[in-house]
Amino acid sequence: MKLIRKFNAIIKVLSAKYLGRKALLCVDFRITTRCNNNCLYCNVPAMKTDEMTTRQIFKMIDEAYELGCIYFDISGGEPLLREDIGEIINYAKNRGLLVGLVTNGKLVAQKLGVLKNLDTIAVSLDGPVDVHDKLRGKGSFQAAVDAIDLLQKNGMKVLLFTVLTEYNIDKVDYILNFAEEHKVMLHFNKIFEHRSYTPDVGEMVPKHNDFVDAVKLIKDSRSRQVIDSHHYLDYLIGKGTLPKCYAGQLFCRIDPNGDVYPCQDLLGKFMAKNLCEVGLKEAFRNMKRDKLCNDCNCALYLELNYLFAGVPFNISEVTDRVRRLKQ
Ligand SMILES: C[S@@+](CC[C@H](N)C(=O)[O-])C[C@H]1O[C@@H](n2cnc3c(N)ncnc32)[C@H](O)[C@@H]1O
Ligand code: SF4
Ligand code: SF4
Repeated sequence: MKLIRKFNAIIKVLSAKYLGRKALLCVDFRITTRCNNNCLYCNVPAMKTDEMTTRQIFKMIDEAYELGCIYFDISGGEPLLREDIGEIINYAKNRGLLVGLVTNGKLVAQKLGVLKNLDTIAVSLDGPVDVHDKLRGKGSFQAAVDAIDLLQKNGMKVLLFTVLTEYNIDKVDYILNFAEEHKVMLHFNKIFEHRSYTPDVGEMVPKHNDFVDAVKLIKDSRSRQVIDSHHYLDYLIGKGTLPKCYAGQLFCRIDPNGDVYPCQDLLGKFMAKNLCEVGLKEAFRNMKRDKLCNDCNCALYLELNYLFAGVPFNISEVTDRVRRLKQ
């Protein structure tokens, strides 16, 4: 990414903070709800939605770039089920965006050739084989580990995504060691409850004290593999404060059919405009939130909000994390 674009991004964050302006620096794009898995804690595959065509996605990427986009994050469903995933990654890369993708790993061997252009690829891993397969289906652990090995052999930077649940809350050591041994970066998330896209996860939610102990263990390990900020980890255990939120101002969430939301938590609670009907610029311009949230558990948005809160004073912290992701 060109230096001038990075510099512009800092100006845009400052303009958002102090002048209330908008600029779309980050897009969180759910490309499909289709999936080749059926994880216990995830309802996404049951949420059937239309999907944009390749051309519509290209147009959306063009508009996102013009609005200032730097980071384009692709999630799902299982994004590798899109036949045109390689074309989309390449299009966004050729536009000059940083592109990340999260996968369950099952189709990595099949799609390896088209993934090489990604800046980061995250593979979900919830613990040792028994725990991972219990949550994510038989054979899923081996698929994830094979995917990680293959990606690394091909010189790609891999990140692990781990959801902390009742089933793996005592397996944090295993996950930290795995990340250390495999030289992969690691991100932890809390299990989401009561969302439109989650089933009843009641019995999978860890006990509060166990969760707090696990997060303390992550913090105390001071592992260089963990990419989560201390602000974020503190917030998860009720110690930090909610940062000012820039959802709909500096980032947004786009659904497979082109509906544009400030963030994924506002699905169904916000009158989304569809970019195929009005264009991304208009859908983004119109986004206003009248109510502030009391809570936020989505890591990507929390980290972005902590990041924007600190600009320009935390630039060295940011560059350190980017450097570690690239190592
Ligand atoms: C929805 S999946 C989509 C990408 C891909 N299918 C995968 O599993 O990596 C993105 C991430 O959300 C996580 N996730 C799914 N349901 C969750 C829940 N109820 N709470 C927290 N994270 C969840 C998954 O473990 C995964 O790391
Ligand atoms: S977490 Fe990912 S792999 Fe599992 S069901 Fe949800 S979308 Fe599919
Ligand atoms: S849930 Fe989080 S990211 Fe979404 S609007 Fe609320 S504070 Fe912002």
